Amino acid sequence: MDVKPLRVGIVGTGGIAVNHHVPNFLRCPNVEVVAACDISEAALEQMRARHGVTDCYRDYCELLARDDLDIISVCTSNDMHYPVVMAAAERGLDIFCEKPLAMDLCQAREMWAAAEAKGLKTGVNFSHRRTPAAQLAREIIARGALGTITTVQAVYAAGGVGYAQHPGTWRNDRQRAGWGGLGDMGAHMLDMLGWWLDDDVAEVAAYTRTFVPQRLSRETGLPMTVTTEDQGMVLMAFASGAMGYLCGGYIFTGRGYDQRIEVYGSEGGLMYNQQRPLELDVYLPPEILADYQVLRQGKTPDTPYTTILVPERLQGLIPGQNGVRRSVIMDYVDAYRASHGRDGAFCFEPGFAEGVRVQAILDACALAERDARWVQLPL
Ligand SMILES: NC(=O)c1ccc[n+]([C@@H]2O[C@H](COP(=O)([O-])OP(=O)(O)OC[C@H]3O[C@@H](n4cnc5c(N)ncnc54)[C@H](O)[C@@H]3O)[C@@H](O)[C@H]2O)c1
Repeated sequence: MDVKPLRVGIVGTGGIAVNHHVPNFLRCPNVEVVAACDISEAALEQMRARHGVTDCYRDYCELLARDDLDIISVCTSNDMHYPVVMAAAERGLDIFCEKPLAMDLCQAREMWAAAEAKGLKTGVNFSHRRTPAAQLAREIIARGALGTITTVQAVYAAGGVGYAQHPGTWRNDRQRAGWGGLGDMGAHMLDMLGWWLDDDVAEVAAYTRTFVPQRLSRETGLPMTVTTEDQGMVLMAFASGAMGYLCGGYIFTGRGYDQRIEVYGSEGGLMYNQQRPLELDVYLPPEILADYQVLRQGKTPDTPYTTILVPERLQGLIPGQNGVRRSVIMDYVDAYRASHGRDGAFCFEPGFAEGVRVQAILDACALAERDARWVQLPL
């Protein structure tokens, strides 16, 4: 067991840093969050108040200049992922970065190459891989239980109420976000599909739409033109021959964060619903179904899908923590430890390679929409 504490520095101390990164790093034994950086004093104050991180910086270069850091966790708006990651790589620091990895494929490839050149341990927070039902879906597909995959439908339907009145943020500004609803939400789905199917997207057609073209800026209170899409749709052909459909966006009134993926093959199918994280609806060969606990039996032919329970081994419950489940960050730290600190072989997904894979599909979608045509991958 590696007893040396792992020291983490956080760059960007907004919502995801305070609510997800720091708590999850601190759930790992012997990990310390020793420093944080944000350009906003209010965001830093939140970090101090919630987590007691007192070594705070306004300039990430000053944070990176410390000589006691092992890992940098990048939680800024998307426009700053590239400069922060490149500077951290230059310093030889290991990097856990928020999704999407970059603003475009060119940046993402550079970030990956810089990390590879220094042998860095990278992670990207495609956090929904840790939803228990997503883990089970992957297991079932990896067992070949669905036969030859033919069809995939993925929807990430985010949306509250009063959407048109929400103040404008960096997410509504293409220069800072790269993408709006399709890229932000869809990045998770694209990663999930790549992970589940172990298949590459070979061709896309896409279009996006901005339904609310102007908002009042949260920062300035002044009107701002929205330059990112509210939602988008993608048609996909996979290298295996399967076909698929993705819809992602912010404008699904009243849905909250609602993620659904359906996968169909020659022998069976499954329907994943993130709002029922411990269950999966499946149609499976009996010998495979026998391996799982049935919650509701399907009744062919009217309601053929049977609901099964995610086995405890895939639920990711943390012993003694009252229903708290493991996260991708905790998996990253475990893999980090397993590689014996800084020198051993590091085995972890999703890392920058997976971040690049998603970014390539998004770039292809942008080209497809711009030229109103199908675009082939790899680019
Ligand atoms: N994995 C997930 O499920 C998930 C969920 C939410 C957000 N995210 C990602 O996390 C990132 C942050 O999102 P958020 O919701 O926390 O946004 P946020 O606006 O709450 O926080 C971003 C923070 O970055 C800071 N920042 C901007 N430029 C900076 C710079 N140059 N130096 C230091 N700090 C800087 C901002 O001041 C802000 O406090 C985005 O990349 C987003 O896509 C991922």
